[in-house]
Amino acid sequence: MRVVSGIQPTGNLHLGNYLGAIRNWVRMQDELDDESEALFFLADMHAISMPHDPAELHKGTLEMAAALIACGIDPQRSVLFNQAQVPQHAELQWLLTGTARMGWLNRMTQWKDKAGKNREGASVALFAYPVLQAADVLLYQATHVPVGEDQKQHLELARDIAQKFNNDFCEPDAPLFTLPDPYIPPAAARIMSLRDGTAKMSKSDPSDMSRINLVDDADTIMKKVKKAKTDPDPLPETMAELEPRAEALNLVTIFAALTEREPQAVLAEHSGKGFGAFKPALGEVLAETLSPISARFRELLADREAIEAALARGAALARDRAAPTLSATYRALGLLRG
Ligand code: TYM
Repeated sequence: MRVVSGIQPTGNLHLGNYLGAIRNWVRMQDELDDESEALFFLADMHAISMPHDPAELHKGTLEMAAALIACGIDPQRSVLFNQAQVPQHAELQWLLTGTARMGWLNRMTQWKDKAGKNREGASVALFAYPVLQAADVLLYQATHVPVGEDQKQHLELARDIAQKFNNDFCEPDAPLFTLPDPYIPPAAARIMSLRDGTAKMSKSDPSDMSRINLVDDADTIMKKVKKAKTDPDPLPETMAELEPRAEALNLVTIFAALTEREPQAVLAEHSGKGFGAFKPALGEVLAETLSPISARFRELLADREAIEAALARGAALARDRAAPTLSATYRALGLLRG
């Protein structure tokens, strides 16, 4: 088993990232057997696809690495690095652009959302972004990719690229690329904004009140939860009644994910209560889960050199792991290399 996943180092790590992806990274890391390995990276090369401030990206990369370690990623057990220190990602991306089709990329919802109406003005990197993402996982022959629901389409594209490459350039009994399986948590695949139950919780939402950041202190968390949009009705007894109430459903989903229960079990305990009673309970569970993580995060940030050193060590290991697949890809394509 080879577990591979990434996160863009822009903005703060938020509850959606944590419950949708990072918590599963940590679980998978902790459950790996001796034959298996996990690689986790900061997708800094993806982050240049949108307008960005270089100083912020540099700082954000170190901070996101610290946040991942604070959540439980152990750089001694997992290979932790940033893409920019492993040039094979960019090399494989170029090699795969020969296989990826324009039509496939045109259908990506993230491309459509982020480019909006201004496609002519969008960067080439934003369009080619999913090919780099495919390279990220195919480079390491990933078998399992733990992500939130919003990354499913990108991973399906990675499978399509792998399959077409294997068909076009490999013998049928010797495919080069492993088809990666997305691992999406059943309950917390899509954590929504606290201000709008139909939009996902996101680093790019201009309102900080829309998300819980992993570094928020207990007072901030409580304030955000109390201000979260809800409706005036008390919590119902059944999921069928909860489902049409997007904001209420989101808060129950978060509570269930944090306490590792089914949403139905949360309803069984809290049905009949209004949000005036439910929100403080949720705020408390959130603060309890996040306070050890934010304390650890602050400690780690006191020694930025140690984080840089951990990323450099991880990158050396990743370059090593990447080398055989990249060479085989050049060979399969007939490219002459000394
Ligand atoms: P990114 O940086 O937007 O998010 C990192 C991870 O967090 C998950 N996530 C969520 N899950 C549930 N609810 C939410 N509101 C929520 N918001 C974010 C994402 O699904 C993701 O798993 N393109 C990727 C980074 C990437 C990558 C890869 C991932 C680059 N290469 C290769 C996997 C494999 C991204 O921008 O994720």
